[in-house]
Formats: sequence, C-alpha cells, structure tokens
Amino acid sequence: MTERIQELRAAAEAAIAAASSSAELEELRVRYLGRKAALPNILRGIATLPPEQRGPTGRAANQARQALDGLIAQRAEQLAGGELEQQLRRDVADVTLPGEPPQPVGHLHLLTATRREIEDVFLGLGFRIAEGPEVETVYYNFDALNFDVTHPTRERADTFYVNDQVVLRTHTSPMQPRAMETQPPPLYIIVPGRVYRRDSDATHTPQFHQIEGLAVDSDITLADLKGTLLAFARAIFGPDREIRLRPHFFPFTEPSIEVDVSCFMKHRSGERCRVCKDTGWVEILGAGMVDPNVFSFVSEYGYDAEKVQGFAFGMGIERIAMLKHGVPDLRLLYDNDVRFLEQFG
Ligand code: DAH
Repeated sequence: MTERIQELRAAAEAAIAAASSSAELEELRVRYLGRKAALPNILRGIATLPPEQRGPTGRAANQARQALDGLIAQRAEQLAGGELEQQLRRDVADVTLPGEPPQPVGHLHLLTATRREIEDVFLGLGFRIAEGPEVETVYYNFDALNFDVTHPTRERADTFYVNDQVVLRTHTSPMQPRAMETQPPPLYIIVPGRVYRRDSDATHTPQFHQIEGLAVDSDITLADLKGTLLAFARAIFGPDREIRLRPHFFPFTEPSIEVDVSCFMKHRSGERCRVCKDTGWVEILGAGMVDPNVFSFVSEYGYDAEKVQGFAFGMGIERIAMLKHGVPDLRLLYDNDVRFLEQFG
C-alpha cells in the first residue's frame, strides 16, 4: 500500500510542478486531495486494513497529503506572482509614445475681434456700452433723430419695414434718444449692434454692424469730439495717424462732419494706393455735434439744449475691419470660408 501512495505522491508532485495557472492548480487540488480522490480514500479506509499495515500506511498517506498541500500552496504563490507580473507588464503605459495630436484651437471672427478692439478703446476713455433693439420704431429710427419725413433713407426701397411704424433699424443712432430717455446727463455711451439696409454689393450687405457713440455733458465742444476720434484712430490704425474733419450733413447733428484718417498703407512709388487712391486720407466715420432739435425730443428727461451739449459719431465695423486688414470684398466676412478666417487669428 505504501508503494501505491508513493506513486500517487510522485505523480501529483510532477503535475503540481508543471501547473501553469492558478485555475489548473485548483483542478489538481481537487483531483489529488478532493473528496473523491485516491489519497483521502486511503486515509478513510485505514481502519479496514490488517492491523500491521495501519501504522505505515497512515503515516505515508498523511505525509503525502501534507507534502502535496505544501507544494500546492507554494506553487500557487509562484503562479500568482508570475500572473501579477504579467498583468503589470501588459498594463504598463508607454510614456515615450507620442500623445494625441493637439486639437486645433479656434479664434474669434474678424468682426467680433474688431468690435471688441473698438469697444476697448472707448471703454478706456470712460464710455460704457449700451445695446438697443434691432426691430425699431420709426419714431426712434427717424423722427426723434430729426429726420425730415421726405428724407430718402425713409424710402421703402432703402429700408426694411415691418409695418408703417416699425422698421429694422437702419443705423445704431436710435439708441441716442433711447439712452437719453433712461439716464440724465452726463452720458457717455457707445452702441455696438446690427443694422439693416436694402443694399447688396462688394461693399454693402443687407445686414451689417455699426458702433454709435454719444457724449452729452455741460461743456462739450467739437474739440472734444476731435480729440476723442484722434485717440480712437491712433489706437486702431497706429500711433502716427492724423485725422481731418470735413463738413457733411446728418439730420441729427449740427455741424456734421465726416472723419478721415491719414493713410496707413506703405506707399510704393509708381503704384496707386488701393486704400487712399493716393489722396493720403481714408474716410472712417460720420460724426457731429448733437443737434438741439434732438435734445428737444428728450428735454423732459433732463436734456435742455440751453444747458447741455453733445457729440455723436457712427462707424461701420465691417469698414474698419476691411480697411485695417486689407479685405477687398465685404462678403468674405460672411462666407465663413476657413481659408479666409484663419488669416485673422
Ligand atoms: N447714423 C449714421 C449712418 O448710419 C452714422 C452717423 C453719422 C452716426 C453721424 C452719428 C453721427 O452718431 O453723429 O450713416
């Protein structure tokens, strides 16, 4: 009987040593030491053996079981260690691999960037930003700004009417009377926003953007307007710029002017300048001193034409952006072709 035990033990030892995974080892444990296995059977049957065999058989079987138990535990530990190692090796992150390609970062549209640049200049000069409705009444868009009923911009061919009393605003100027109705002087505001006209060609789109300016106080002169616009022109077009004022007409300012900035393009000899047509000056906006007739529409809000004066100006954001960056066609700003937009990061 002890021979049979030694055979079983040797077979089990070889199998345990060869086991290549914890799962396989578990199967061997069941096969050699489980409830139906040969070795435990022998131990259970000791009592049925002849008395002289009981001692040696029991001893050999017990030794064999303990030895196999120990071997299995030892091998289990080895395998677990190896498996952990393998797992670690499999899961290791190779920090020398290149990362994901960087995602391209977008940037502001040229018009938004230009609007913010202009806003920054006037915020720095003490103006604050006011916004108004794009769907406007005829009263604020025309009447309260001293537009005669026969003024050409009132024509249906020029303006989008919602009905007889309501228009898509043709300029940001209606915020002049609106702002004065909400706050007594002194008042220093700029008004960025969309405006609408029945126009469409290389330099006109039916919808575009303006920035209006209005300053009302008790000691405002044309010199203040000129100084303010000079600071603006230099901030946007370069510190060496000069401006000049030319007489003009707007219904809501008196006197009215158009403002030119000295040309900021490098002039090449023998070539006609695309920007100033060799005149040396580029028109950038309209402006003037607030007409007393405009104050008469808001006199009940503290705007007495005998006591306050003001200046106003209005510019097209598209025009400023196109001049500054040499954009040849207004419609490029709205086509949203990335090959164009990417040039203004
Ligand atoms: N509203 C005028 C336009 O759209 C621009 C303008 C001119 C605004 C003179 C002003 C101004 O405030 O004083 O053509």
